[in-house]
Amino acid sequence: MRLGCCYYPEHWPENLWAEDALRMVETGLSQVRIGEFAWSRIEPDPGQFDWGWLDRAIETLHSAGLEVILGTPTATPPKWLVDTMPDMVATNEHGHARVFGSRRHYCFSHRGYRAEAARITRAVANRYGKHPAVVAWQTDNEYGCHDTVLSFSDAARLAFREWLAARYGTAMDLNRAWGNVFWSMEYRSFDEIDLPGLTVTEANPAHWLAFRRFASDEVAAFNRSQVEILRELSPGRDVVHNYMGFFTEFDHHAIASDLDVVGWDSYPLGFLDSFPFTEADKLAYARQGHPDIAAFHHDLYRGCTPSGRWSVLEQQPGPVNWANHNPAPLPGMVRLWTLEAMAHGAELVSYFRWRQFPQAQEQHHAGLLLPDSEPALGLAEAAQSARDIAMLGPVGDPPKQVALIFAYDADWVTKIQPQGKGVSALWATFSCYSALRQLGLDIDIVPPGRPLDGYALVALPCLPIVPDCLVAELKRFSGQIVIGPRSGSRDADFAISDGLPPGPLRALFPGKVVRVESLRPGLTHPGKDWEIERWLEHLETAAEPEMIALDGTVACWRHRQVRYMSAWPNQEVAHAVLARAAKDAGLATHALPEGLRLRRAGENTFAFNYSQTPVHLPDTVTGHLLLGQRTLHPADVSILKAN
Ligand code: GAL
Repeated sequence: MRLGCCYYPEHWPENLWAEDALRMVETGLSQVRIGEFAWSRIEPDPGQFDWGWLDRAIETLHSAGLEVILGTPTATPPKWLVDTMPDMVATNEHGHARVFGSRRHYCFSHRGYRAEAARITRAVANRYGKHPAVVAWQTDNEYGCHDTVLSFSDAARLAFREWLAARYGTAMDLNRAWGNVFWSMEYRSFDEIDLPGLTVTEANPAHWLAFRRFASDEVAAFNRSQVEILRELSPGRDVVHNYMGFFTEFDHHAIASDLDVVGWDSYPLGFLDSFPFTEADKLAYARQGHPDIAAFHHDLYRGCTPSGRWSVLEQQPGPVNWANHNPAPLPGMVRLWTLEAMAHGAELVSYFRWRQFPQAQEQHHAGLLLPDSEPALGLAEAAQSARDIAMLGPVGDPPKQVALIFAYDADWVTKIQPQGKGVSALWATFSCYSALRQLGLDIDIVPPGRPLDGYALVALPCLPIVPDCLVAELKRFSGQIVIGPRSGSRDADFAISDGLPPGPLRALFPGKVVRVESLRPGLTHPGKDWEIERWLEHLETAAEPEMIALDGTVACWRHRQVRYMSAWPNQEVAHAVLARAAKDAGLATHALPEGLRLRRAGENTFAFNYSQTPVHLPDTVTGHLLLGQRTLHPADVSILKAN
């Protein structure tokens, strides 16, 4: 694994660059990501390119021995471009146009902007495509950041109509597929169809699902147009994009099929503060991040492509500026996050950013250096990580134990129609992932249809739309299977599945869901050391009840090697069900103290202490120590090699 940083030479006087490059090398960094926001400096006036500074910046990094990941600058179209094409900006759900003055103000559907994005990509790739320093390209930056996938612009409306015509053929077929007879929503032609944003009450969920699919396809097409140019003008270089955390607005699996390496931006403390974790977890892990946040995304994004190549393109090196609260990491956490990425098979961890910038929007965002170039907290930990990585050498591949199946349209379905507060396919998946990690297991998160050979246990925490390829794969699979609530409950156009849920999964599980309920907080069915809350399904089934609440309500059913969770997979339910399935699958589990997590890579077991107190490795974790001790202080990492 390599280390790197995100660097903005355009922010700093040129006489700092050579020293910066030297210090990067001294720190143990070998790759530098640059350029992704520099359009106004590359092309200050329409058609007038200023390559000089970027030539010299790349040359300076190159002569210090650093490799460059060059970004296409399309996340920041300059003011002159917006002024020549004012309708290129995205429109929010309330019909308001986005305004220039930050970033990501473009609409993915605007064909004029797409042509401009292709033009600047071609210009940059022409200039640097064959430069020996340039080893990879990043397309754009964080597609969808700041809520920018869905645009309700005129451009989007027109493109959506075309997309619908291609998918449905005739308006009559669309009416039938969506059930538009309901409330007289029938259309006579595609030209009558609007975007679903401003309807009086909720629009037809089928309309929303189609719009989300369309919007995701627009992101994919935008990305692909850059990828094609980069492949033509810069052969042999990897193309990457940096995905975000807990973000499902476009189909990351689809876009990954055009990339060589899937990147993501890891901000564990910002994510903990910004997403629906309990107040207790937000306090307990405020300076470490919840122990499963980084790992979840490592495994999710590693699973996006069959090759499994992935990187951390931005790593939090200190406090960030964008969450509600932005504490500093515990000493040691920057190194822990780095080595954890290594354990999950990352090719690169790149710290964001090299030096804190004293102006503009991110003044409070830490870098590896302070604005005055003195070392910030993260620098020494990056350097220590580099020494650890060099000492360890290649650590080996992650093993195959458990596959979790996740699809982006699953989260669209629960976003469009939650039916109860807090019901989300993404968070059901995270909850199962976390429960499996607490059992000390290794997990791959994969899309439906990926071959399942080699796994002992497969779980679908919440997968409303089940494609045929998954059913076929599961029929072939001989290990343990866990099906979560709402799985197989909808067809591709959002109708309740034929023959009732779990629809196509009835080929594996003999039963049907005849009633679903969502439950307000406090309306629960307590069981032994778990309780049914939030969501409950009632089944008619020939399966055996396996987990029964004290009042007789069933939380989990079992038929041969298939379990069906009829209750929401909160932590306790997920733990109880998955522990049973893991045992039946013959997987060895561990009783881990709070905050301790494990990850296998080849013959090595990595252990990470996310808690605020020292923890001891249980006796079930064996091997001789390559790094650290059997007692781990907060933020410590230990690595054991099998004897
Ligand atoms: C990311 C983004 C970076 C920077 C960073 C701050 O979302 O890609 O450009 O803004 O957040 O944490």
